[in-house]
Amino acid sequence: MAEQSFIPVCEPLLGGRELEYVTKAVSAGWISSSGGYVKEFEQAFAKYLDVPCAVTTTSGTAALHLALVAAGIGPGDEVIIPAFTMIATAFAVCYTGAKPVFVDAEAASWNIDAAQLEQKLSPRTKAILPVHIYGHACDMDAIDAVADAHDLLVIEDAAEAIGSRYNGKLCGALGDLACFSFFANKLVTTGEGGMVVARDERFAEKLRYYKNLCFPVSGPRRYLHEDIGFNYRMPNVLAAIGLAQLERVDFYLECRRKNAARYDERLRGQRGITTPPSLPYTLSSYWMYGILIEDDFGLSRDDVMAALAAAGIDTRSFFVSMHRQPALEKYGCDVSGAYPVTDQLARKGLYLPSGSGLSEADLNRSVDVLLSLRR
Ligand SMILES: Cc1ncc(COP(=O)(O)O)c(C=O)c1O
Repeated sequence: MAEQSFIPVCEPLLGGRELEYVTKAVSAGWISSSGGYVKEFEQAFAKYLDVPCAVTTTSGTAALHLALVAAGIGPGDEVIIPAFTMIATAFAVCYTGAKPVFVDAEAASWNIDAAQLEQKLSPRTKAILPVHIYGHACDMDAIDAVADAHDLLVIEDAAEAIGSRYNGKLCGALGDLACFSFFANKLVTTGEGGMVVARDERFAEKLRYYKNLCFPVSGPRRYLHEDIGFNYRMPNVLAAIGLAQLERVDFYLECRRKNAARYDERLRGQRGITTPPSLPYTLSSYWMYGILIEDDFGLSRDDVMAALAAAGIDTRSFFVSMHRQPALEKYGCDVSGAYPVTDQLARKGLYLPSGSGLSEADLNRSVDVLLSLRR
C-alpha cells in the first residue's frame, strides 16, 4: 500500500513577497527594530483595521502584557478573562501583578459568557479581556454594555481572529485595545511576533514608551528612565515578513473559510461530532476548525487523536481550563468555582488540519479517517 503523507495541523504559507522584502531588509543592513518595515507594517495594519494606532511587539503574549501595562493595570487590580483560553491570556495579566478572574465559556459560542460577567466583578475589576476563540467573535455588544456600566476597559485578545468580524466590523477594532499574535500557525505570521492596536491615540505613546525600555518616545536619548519598561521590539526582518503576509490576508481568510465550509458540509449532523459555532453576529476567520467528540461517537477524544495521528493526521486538543492550571493556582487565582462548559470543551475538543494551504484531498482524507473511527 502506498505510504500516506503526513497532514500537518497547520503550516505557514509564505507565497507572497516575503523573500523580496526580507532580502531588501538584509541587503540594506536594516535588521534591527529601527528599519522601515516596522513602520510600514504598523501603518498597513492600522489601515487594515481602520484604527489610529498599531504597535508591533515580539509576540502575542508580549502584546497582551504591553496593552495591560499601557492600560495602567497593576498589582491589586483584577482582569476578567475567559476560563477557556490559551494560557498566555492569563499569564499576561499575572505579569502586571494583577489577578485574572475567570468566567465560564458560553456553550453556543465557546467564548466568554457575557451573561456571567456581572457576577465576577469586584471593586478591583479594571478590565474585561475577551478572547475570540478560534476566530469566532465574542458578543462584543453584551461585553461593552457591562464595561460601560462599570467603567471598565475592554482589551480584545484577537490573537486568533485576524480578519474575523463582529456585526460586520473587524475584530481588533472593537475594544479600547486589542492584541494580535503572528506565531507561525496564525493566519498572518512573522514566525514570532505580535501587535497591539488602540482605538484611542492616547494609548499610542504609552505603548511605544513601555515596549522600548521606557526610553523617551521623543526628544534626545538620555539614559535616564522614569519607569520600568520592556524590550518588546519587533525586528525589521520579521516586520518585512509581516507586511508581505498582510498583503495577502484576504487570500488567507478565503482559504480558511473554504476549509471550514468543506468541513461543515461533511461533518454537520454526523453522529458524535459537534461542528464549530457560527452565530449570526460573527464571520469567523476559522483560524482553526475545532470540533467536539461527543460521547455517542463511541471513542474518546484522546483515542480519536491517537488514531488520527497513527494515520498521519495531525490534530491538537482544546485548551485546558484556566481554573485547572497549577501555575495560576500557585499565583493566587481563585480556582474554586465551577466552569462546566469550559470543562466539556476541554474534554471533548480537538482541532483538525486547518492551514491556509490545506488541500481538498487532505481535508477529505482527514474526514474519511475521522468518520471511520466511529463505533
Ligand atoms: C488566544 C491567544 N492569546 C495569546 C496567544 C499568545 O500569542 P504568542 O504565541 O504569539 O505569544 C495565543 C497564541 O497562540 C492565543 O491563541
